[in-house]
Amino acid sequence: MNKLKIPALTLVLSLISAVLQTALVSFISYKIMGYADIAISLLYFFISFIVSFFVIYILYNNVIFQKIDKLYLRVKALQPKEIPNTEFQLDEVDSLERLEDEITKLADERNKEVEQHRNLDSYRKEFLGNVSHELKTPIFNIQGYVSTLIDGGIDDPSINVEYLKRADKSVDRMIQIIDDLETISQLEVGTLELEPEKYDVAQQIKEIIEALEFQSSRKNIKLQTAKKYDKPIVVLADKFRIRQVIVNLITNSIKYGKEGGKTLITINLFDEQVIVEIKDNGIGIAEKHLARLFERFYRVDKGRSREQGGTGLGLAIVKHIIEAHNETIDVTSTVNEGTTITFTIKKGE
Ligand SMILES: Nc1ncnc2c1ncn2[C@@H]1O[C@H](COP(=O)(O)OP(=O)(O)OP(=O)(O)O)[C@@H](O)[C@H]1O
Ligand SMILES: [Mg+2]
Repeated sequence: MNKLKIPALTLVLSLISAVLQTALVSFISYKIMGYADIAISLLYFFISFIVSFFVIYILYNNVIFQKIDKLYLRVKALQPKEIPNTEFQLDEVDSLERLEDEITKLADERNKEVEQHRNLDSYRKEFLGNVSHELKTPIFNIQGYVSTLIDGGIDDPSINVEYLKRADKSVDRMIQIIDDLETISQLEVGTLELEPEKYDVAQQIKEIIEALEFQSSRKNIKLQTAKKYDKPIVVLADKFRIRQVIVNLITNSIKYGKEGGKTLITINLFDEQVIVEIKDNGIGIAEKHLARLFERFYRVDKGRSREQGGTGLGLAIVKHIIEAHNETIDVTSTVNEGTTITFTIKKGE
């Protein structure tokens, strides 16, 4: 029986009660009979002490501590991660302190939850604002071109084909934004299943460089690997997703690179990992922006990025993909000197 721990308070109260009762009875017997028998007073003291003890103990235990115990269990049950401690002893003297601890813990947790909900709510509002803002530009463009065509422009050979082409470009832009948003939401909800396979990342990088050479040549930017990488460098990762990462990073190095600049890609091999480094000598990023760089819609220079057709989703996607692989990505940058981004991939052999 776990309730037989005698709380000090019960003992003290019983003692006080017995002393007072004995004093009163001795006083009355002295008044009536002219004397008080010490043996009888002592006997009375013991009897009244035992009776007081049981009365106080039952009251104390049943009335107060059972209530505290119920409260304790209810508070515990409100904490989803913890199993209520049913072995809790009702009559431990420190049960009030324990209850206080539990209530403080619960209050702290609730405060944290409220804070998280507030953050989520402001994030949601900001996100919706960003999405509608980004979609507005191409939609208004399409609306403008279509209206001009309806208002007679369709018969003007100097603009009709050109406006249709521009509207088509805006549609492409909308599709791109929606695709990016879809990828992000899949990565965040965890519905995007990675399909890891063993493949040669050196070969993959060479193919990407070839595919992006046309884009980089327009800005006279050289895309180069640090070495020839003749031997295969086998990694274990989702090939399609890692391609997305590398394309995004090299594209950024071109978009934010300087005319006539250079992007250097290095692959370093370690015991269990491969580290890919993409280094450009472009406009660079000021220190204060680095911490927020991987946030969705974050752009250092909104005007410049939008000019380049950027939404600020590229790096957010890149980071999600790398984290989904349980790998890491880092950025260092100096304004006007350039940016270096490194990320890790698991070695495949
Ligand atoms: N290599 C780089 N050099 C300088 N600035 C960069 C570089 N890479 C990214 N940035 C800055 O970081 C911002 C975020 O990059 P991110 O790739 O997420 O978006 P974006 O390129 O603007 O748009 P998106 O990639 O969605 O088309 C960019 O707008 C740019 O300001
Ligand atoms: Mg980008």
